[in-house]
Amino acid sequence: MLTMTNPLTGVSEVFSRTGSASEAPSLPASSFTNFPRQVAPAAMNLKEMEEQLSALRTSLICAFNQLLDLKDLNTGVHSTRLAEWALHVAGELSLNESVLSDIEVAALLHDIGKIGIPDSILQKPAKLTNEEYALMKMHPEYGWAVLRHVPGMERASLMILHHHESYDGQGYPAGLKGEEIPIGSRIVSVIDAFDAMVSSRPYREGLPFEEAEHRLLQARGTQFDPDVVDRFLPLARAEMSSVFAAAGTSVSAAL
Ligand SMILES: [Fe+2]
Repeated sequence: MLTMTNPLTGVSEVFSRTGSASEAPSLPASSFTNFPRQVAPAAMNLKEMEEQLSALRTSLICAFNQLLDLKDLNTGVHSTRLAEWALHVAGELSLNESVLSDIEVAALLHDIGKIGIPDSILQKPAKLTNEEYALMKMHPEYGWAVLRHVPGMERASLMILHHHESYDGQGYPAGLKGEEIPIGSRIVSVIDAFDAMVSSRPYREGLPFEEAEHRLLQARGTQFDPDVVDRFLPLARAEMSSVFAAAGTSVSAAL
């Protein structure tokens, strides 16, 4: 049983996952059970339609998140935290309101394409072979290929496609450079790298905050957008205690 606060609504939802992996998972309360009623009515006014679409979008995000959880891709707190950070950085950069929801979706679902990567690669505790790494690098394209079909998620799917680009053009899949890279992708790149660095895994301890900060600064302007790094680090430092608690590392040990 997993209780997850929906980052879009602030409402806590209970996800239950019992029995074997072959059993169908139960859906959250705001799932597709009302889908035909949500899209059909002829006399619906604009405000009601917007509310219904928003609810449908939230349900889709929850469904995708549950898929990630079924694949043991460490979502839940991780993706919710990334979404909060991404929105904070976007606000600091004074980005247009219309792009915020796309950035939020990109932060929540940036690794959705890993569903298409074999578990033997995702769970491998050792270094990947060249062939395995080449396959792993397909996950941004897989994520884009899925989400671009969802009405309203087209821009978010492009942010997901480019979340492993590098600011100096050395990333993948397209080798985009600087501001050619969607801003949502540049934000996700920084916050995901930081979160991965400080989080403990079964096969390694998370890095101390100071070391993760040092690595972000080292790659500022090469791998990472310098503006995004500058806006993010004060937030990371301010939230250090809660981040390390959620990441499974004690602050005192980390420092
Ligand atoms: Fe990724």
